[in-house]
Amino acid sequence: MTNKYKYFVANWKMFGNKKSINLINKVIKFSKLSKFRKAKIVYCPPYTILGDFIKKLKNTNIKVGAQNCHFIDGDGPYTGFISAKMLKKIGCDYTIIGHSEQRYFGDTDEKINKKILLATKNNLNVFFCVGEKLNEKRKNLTSKVLKNQLLKGLKKVKKLNKLIIAYEPVWSIGSGKIPSNAELSKNIMILRSILKKIKKNFKFKILYGGSVNEKNIELLNKIKNIDGFLIGGSSQKSNKFIDIIKKTYN
Ligand code: PGA
Repeated sequence: MTNKYKYFVANWKMFGNKKSINLINKVIKFSKLSKFRKAKIVYCPPYTILGDFIKKLKNTNIKVGAQNCHFIDGDGPYTGFISAKMLKKIGCDYTIIGHSEQRYFGDTDEKINKKILLATKNNLNVFFCVGEKLNEKRKNLTSKVLKNQLLKGLKKVKKLNKLIIAYEPVWSIGSGKIPSNAELSKNIMILRSILKKIKKNFKFKILYGGSVNEKNIELLNKIKNIDGFLIGGSSQKSNKFIDIIKKTYN
């Protein structure tokens, strides 16, 4: 049993509709059990049902986040975009930024940096995703990639207490594969040493994401220095999601 607060972030990606909101009833009930109070649960559904999630989770200790925001603030002629300010206004507490599925469709380190600056300025907490692709891992470039993503993404970011780093190896997302414990520990250490250069004596929170499920969670929990998990597929099935949390605290 760990005494630390841990994050369990449900990234629903481009899944879900009004009906699926009832799927989280079990999680709401579960989150009220005092034994699991140390679990910080955050749901990140698609924009279309963010408002419904916020309403449903209003009097619970479960928070809501978006999956992205625009790199320009406030209102404006930006068809198809949503700003950090808008997200804050409807009641979001968090947003994911820099997810590899957004990087794949055009998010650059520079855009990600602007998004982080604006999200934190608007008092949103940010899950900032970083991670290497398979070919980068094979070429032993992981450390270089992580350094580049962190340094560029966090340029001029001052509100570090609003920041939660999510280490997500791209090759692990949705593939059913997770890094070995040795590899994951090593990469977390690499991240911590880069972050130390950004701000000495600051304890950054780091999550792991990529194919986390109820079967591999016990293995993942052996890794020291992890503050929780960013969970895609397995977060959409409440039983699996609850199992992941239960096994973390057992
Ligand atoms: P996965 O997704 O758990 O389905 O691999 C994780 C993520 O993309 O955040």
